Amino acid sequence: MLDVRGLRIGYRAASGTRLAVDGLDLKVAAGEITAVVGESGSGKSSTAHALVGLLPAGGVVLGGSVRLQGEELTGLGERAWREVRGRRIGLIPQDPGVSLDPVKPVGAQVAEVLRVHGLATRRDAPARAVGLLAEAGLPDPDQRASQYPHELSGGMRQRVLIAIATAARPRLLVADEPTSALDVTVQRQLLDHLQEVVTTTGTAMLLVTHDLAVVADRAQHVVVMSQGRVVEAGPAGRVLADPRHPYTRELLADAPTLAARPPRGRPGTAGSAPVTVPGPASADAAPLLRVTGLTRAFPVRGPVLSRRRTRTAVDGVGFELGRGETL
Ligand SMILES: Nc1ncnc2c1ncn2[C@@H]1O[C@H](COP(=O)(O)OP(=O)(O)O)[C@@H](O)[C@H]1O
Ligand SMILES: [Mg+2]
Repeated sequence: MLDVRGLRIGYRAASGTRLAVDGLDLKVAAGEITAVVGESGSGKSSTAHALVGLLPAGGVVLGGSVRLQGEELTGLGERAWREVRGRRIGLIPQDPGVSLDPVKPVGAQVAEVLRVHGLATRRDAPARAVGLLAEAGLPDPDQRASQYPHELSGGMRQRVLIAIATAARPRLLVADEPTSALDVTVQRQLLDHLQEVVTTTGTAMLLVTHDLAVVADRAQHVVVMSQGRVVEAGPAGRVLADPRHPYTRELLADAPTLAARPPRGRPGTAGSAPVTVPGPASADAAPLLRVTGLTRAFPVRGPVLSRRRTRTAVDGVGFELGRGETL
């Protein structure tokens, strides 16, 4: 589906052009996931954005080839990109906090993709958008569709972004650390959903991640990047079981989820012996912070305007926090 060869990306600055990606090769097949891993600044996001023609200002593709179903994408004009982006390649961006339009209800943002690509009429787009939100696993999609991004949790926003990216049924999904900002449970649910999209619809997915456990569980192929170059690539199972490049070995050694680690003790306690926490002096026995019966509810706009309803976000929570403790 996607064949990238010798891709070079640079950022122009007053002092000259700085290379961010220097000769990247990768392929993604239909119905498969290719993962891109590497340390922060290794060029993963630059690659992801170049694949959808959305490099930030100053960013330029300096060379190489990007083919989608055999068709060259480098050098496309903006008009041609608009036919590809969203329609044939969907991008799931890294940061759900800043990637949605803050002044538009989320349902309208999904509907817009369908309208822009001529896949729905003005009349049926809203209902189709609700269907797409439901498919992406957003609870109460009917009601949520009329809410604004700031009224949703991070996980819900990411589901909206997934609904937007998959709305036009693109052949390729590019996901840039789609779950890095989310807790592990939501992360697993979203990755399960994306994986199902890939396997049931034959979509190809390029998954940028720094989580090697995600690579092990989800990807067929992996490309390891360091400082703008591919240092190792191959079948995910082989690369993880038998890493050949020192950098990949280092990444594996640093992966907390793959190598079981002893829990860390308090600062200043060394070794793996059980940590004995000194009991608080009697004067300090009272907690520094005590929270009881904390409740927070938000008003929600229902389909029927006259009926005022609330959604309880926090319901009678209580806890205590003592000196020197982390909760
Ligand atoms: N908008 C930008 N302007 C200038 N340099 C950038 C910009 N975005 C990224 N870079 C540079 O490109 C390199 C790769 O960054 P990036 O692709 O964001 O890496 P990653 O996603 O792997 O953390 C870094 O050296 C970074 O500083
Ligand atoms: Mg990045």
